[in-house]
Amino acid sequence: MDNALLQGIRERRTVRAFRTDPVEPEKIERILEAGRWAPSGKNTQPWRFVVVKAPDKRQELGKLVPQRNMIATAPVTIAVLKHTPSGYDELKDAQGIGACAQNLLLAAHALGLGGCWIGRTRDPELEKLLGANEDEELMLLLPVGYPAEEPSDGDRKPLDGLVRTI
Ligand SMILES: Cc1cc2nc3c(=O)[nH]c(=O)nc-3n(C[C@H](O)[C@H](O)[C@H](O)COP(=O)(O)O)c2cc1C
Repeated sequence: MDNALLQGIRERRTVRAFRTDPVEPEKIERILEAGRWAPSGKNTQPWRFVVVKAPDKRQELGKLVPQRNMIATAPVTIAVLKHTPSGYDELKDAQGIGACAQNLLLAAHALGLGGCWIGRTRDPELEKLLGANEDEELMLLLPVGYPAEEPSDGDRKPLDGLVRTI
């Protein structure tokens, strides 16, 4: 493909197994920076990030989700929270957070890393562990690390069946 962004979109695949190598802090920062530049309704930017790096926190986090191994082995998990006072519309806030999450995944991929979007929302136990305050609610978890697996080529419905031009 002749365009790096389009190629990244096509080639990014969910990674669920990670090497133990740490992720460089500057890479985490670049991933978060990509998240920050996502579009959001009325530019409200309702996302907040908690970067979970401490081994004990990662273990504890893993115990609270079915994807225990993934979270416990990933050197970093980014929790994406919604800052509710910044939001203005339930669905549009969620759409903005979704755009943010895709930016995080694409940036991770562009930097040679992989990640898995774990759709974990509004979980009081997890929110407590993450130190979320009363204005914040969990939207998703994103374990990130260097891939320890070769993901498949991906599978998508053909465009023909998805599009109507009127
Ligand atoms: C909203 C959402 C929730 C997801 N939740 C999970 C999850 O809980 N566990 C998991 O392994 N993958 C989860 N995924 C990843 C999807 O399974 C994955 O994106 C999909 O199968 C397509 O594969 P690809 O990302 O490799 O193209 C989620 C993705 C999205 C967008």
